[in-house]
Amino acid sequence: MADYLMATYARLPVQFERGEGVWLWDTEGRQYLDALSGIAVCSLGHAHPGVAQAIADQARRLVHTSNLYGITLQEQLAERLCKLSGMERAFFCNSGAEANEAAIKIARLYGHGREITTPSVIVMENSFHGRTLATLTATGSRKVQAGFEPLVQGFIRVPYNDLQAIKTVADNSNDVVAVLAEPIQGEGGINVPDPDYLLGMRQICDDHGWLLMLDEIQTGMGRTGEWFACQHTGVLPDVITVAKALGNGVPIGACLARGTAAGLMHPGNHGTTFGGNPLATRAALAVLDAIEQERLVAHAAELGQQLLEGFREQLAGLTGVKEIRGLGLMIGIELDRPCAELVGRALESGLLINVTAERVIRLLPPLVTTAHQGQMIVEKVSELVREFLAG
Ligand SMILES: Cc1ncc(COP(=O)(O)O)c(C=O)c1O
Repeated sequence: MADYLMATYARLPVQFERGEGVWLWDTEGRQYLDALSGIAVCSLGHAHPGVAQAIADQARRLVHTSNLYGITLQEQLAERLCKLSGMERAFFCNSGAEANEAAIKIARLYGHGREITTPSVIVMENSFHGRTLATLTATGSRKVQAGFEPLVQGFIRVPYNDLQAIKTVADNSNDVVAVLAEPIQGEGGINVPDPDYLLGMRQICDDHGWLLMLDEIQTGMGRTGEWFACQHTGVLPDVITVAKALGNGVPIGACLARGTAAGLMHPGNHGTTFGGNPLATRAALAVLDAIEQERLVAHAAELGQQLLEGFREQLAGLTGVKEIRGLGLMIGIELDRPCAELVGRALESGLLINVTAERVIRLLPPLVTTAHQGQMIVEKVSELVREFLAG
């Protein structure tokens, strides 16, 4: 059957049939602990009763009408996301890449409004923003771009966590209109910048009249122990993009904006058929309810701390472990050698993990993970790492 699929993924030899909370069961009935959440998507775990109920109820009532008509659920979701993030308006779409496309288009409208005919966006090395042509151009990875040239114009790349590099661009270009960055790089290897990095970017953007656009697609929705990772720093950007955990698996993304950036879209200059339809927005509202009712943002902060301390206790000082880092439930363990094979070894032992940037074990467990399940993750991953490094 897979012969009929385009070979965009090297898939692991397993198919899951059912899930409940942090657990998944494959077609053979084997049970797995999910420490990846479908790459930061299923933050409420699998088959969350509140979300399942909302989806089922909405499916019986009304799935889709199009954005030609008012959608109360979409308006409610926009208001709640804006209040949580400090933004003023939302545009809804179906994925992270589309949310970033909207942000990039906003930056261009903003630039043209300032009579800059070739507006440029500063983007980072090792970033990941998606697979559409504009977002793969914004992405700082040759692997993602190779074969898809010509790339899109209007991006200037600088090293991540380097304020001086942004200042140097400011001194040498009159075309810059925005900076686009992840508050913590996910695909790039769970790269946590210096504490004053976002603040410094905000300052540079203010000094030059640029938009600060933060891609919170992986970091947002409570994952790092605040609703949005920028809230750890007190920095308010002009644009925030979200997706992934927003629908707990129902595809939905959003581009949130405030100030001038919030008022640049008009009827006819942007849109998408499915974006913010009743089914997706009802699911996302149920996700917000659950995160609030179950106090999962604070829980992510506490459990993340427990996991980081647990890993440091078990692995720090071990030859081959370079760094253990992260924030909330976004955790990276960097080894001194490529370790992609750990993913298969973990699967065999009943655990789902990921390896990114070749050498970084990436853990993104559901926010509903209990302290006991967190301890299981620490012990299982530590054991795998010790065995792997022992050769
Ligand atoms: C930070 C970030 N931005 C954008 C994306 C792209 O999102 P999507 O795959 O939903 O298009 C991802 C996906 O991994 C991501 O981690």
